[in-house]
Amino acid sequence: MKIMVVGGGGREHAIISSIRKNPAVECVYALPGNGGIAADAICVPIGATEIDRIVDFAVENKIDYCVVAPDDPLVLGAVDALTEKGIPCFGPNKAAAIIEGSKVFSKNLMKKYGIPTAAYEVFENPADALTYLERSEYPIVIKADGLALGKGVIIATTKEEAFDAIHSIMEDKVFGKSGNRVVVEEFLTGPEVSVLAFTDGKTMVPMVSSMDHKRAHDNDQGLNTGGMGTIAPNPYYTKQIAEECMRSIFLPTMAAMNAEGRTFKGCLYFGLMLTPKGPRVIEYNCRFGDPETQVVLPLLESDLLEVMQAVTEERLAEVEVKFSEGAACCVVMASEGYPAKYEKGFEITMSEAVRPHVFVAGAALRDGKPVTSGGRVLGVTAVADTLQEAIKTAYARVGEVHFENAYYRSDIGGRALKALTEEK
Ligand code: AMP
Ligand code: GLY
Repeated sequence: MKIMVVGGGGREHAIISSIRKNPAVECVYALPGNGGIAADAICVPIGATEIDRIVDFAVENKIDYCVVAPDDPLVLGAVDALTEKGIPCFGPNKAAAIIEGSKVFSKNLMKKYGIPTAAYEVFENPADALTYLERSEYPIVIKADGLALGKGVIIATTKEEAFDAIHSIMEDKVFGKSGNRVVVEEFLTGPEVSVLAFTDGKTMVPMVSSMDHKRAHDNDQGLNTGGMGTIAPNPYYTKQIAEECMRSIFLPTMAAMNAEGRTFKGCLYFGLMLTPKGPRVIEYNCRFGDPETQVVLPLLESDLLEVMQAVTEERLAEVEVKFSEGAACCVVMASEGYPAKYEKGFEITMSEAVRPHVFVAGAALRDGKPVTSGGRVLGVTAVADTLQEAIKTAYARVGEVHFENAYYRSDIGGRALKALTEEK
């Protein structure tokens, strides 16, 4: 089989590594892929949002199955365009991808169907938002409606910060059209959990839970990033909480999307907060999370491609989706300075032994050798029987990967380990 994966980050590298385990796979194309993915797939210089070129490539090369991984092409309707040409795809169509593409949509969906989330108001003009924020309690959370490269959420601790956020999102349009509307919502507290779930609109199969580490520096200090590391499973997500989430969040979301005529097929990402009042949805994503995928897929014992095809063909109930009992850790190695200013173009080297455990996010090829080309450069992963061992092995592997100006957090999984100890 010829497989095509749209996207070019660490998540896509992890997806490609899992798909390649299927013996029927002859070759994998990555559009555009990156300088690290090039070791495992044929990289084609077509951008992830160039829908027409993606479709043409798939048709010309007789692609048997396509995975659309990033949010933008899903929201733009890449799956609809490919499906129309007879290319089977993994990922939601445009009508369903709106669950991530519009926060106003997802909040209204949750309200209409009684799915627990933070209380909120929607504003379509800055004056109304400012009037509301004048008499609000702080902290409060302000979210741009549309996609904003993961930067559209502002936690305002004072009225001044909230006003600044409204000015920059709604008036200066720092996120373009995504800021035509804003959601202002209640500030919640509690441990955060990411749960990815396979769903074909009939069956919902949650994967092993995970925990992201969003801040740039140790002890959750510094700026928000795209994610500096992950562990799985998330110790805060107990069996009891998982059952509650299935009953009050996951299945109702599937039913709600069906009722709206927007059946969701693909990987639905639930960003949850375990508040003192119970689990709440912080956000939905219409795709695999990054860097959650880098710890979740290595724990998947079933064949990823078979599960994905079952989702496309709406027979998810018939396949086994089995995860190992072990734990996984991913430590992101970034360019010093990320998420602000950083230098790039440094050669990346690593021992052959660690290569299969490294998922590359930001690398280009120079004279056939991978060089750094982004803020988050790669994720070093490990799977082990216990979380403690997984963390230890991941950090030992980090020591075998080299590039100038490398920066990584030294406490990935620390909070999770502490939670495990407190549990006992
Ligand atoms: P996002 O960019 O959508 O991943 O959101 C960034 C982060 O903002 C989340 O991971 C949460 O830590 C935080 N956040 C979002 N909504 C809320 C909320 N209602 N209360 C507290 N924190 C929130
Ligand atoms: N790790 C969060 C995301 O993929 O959006």
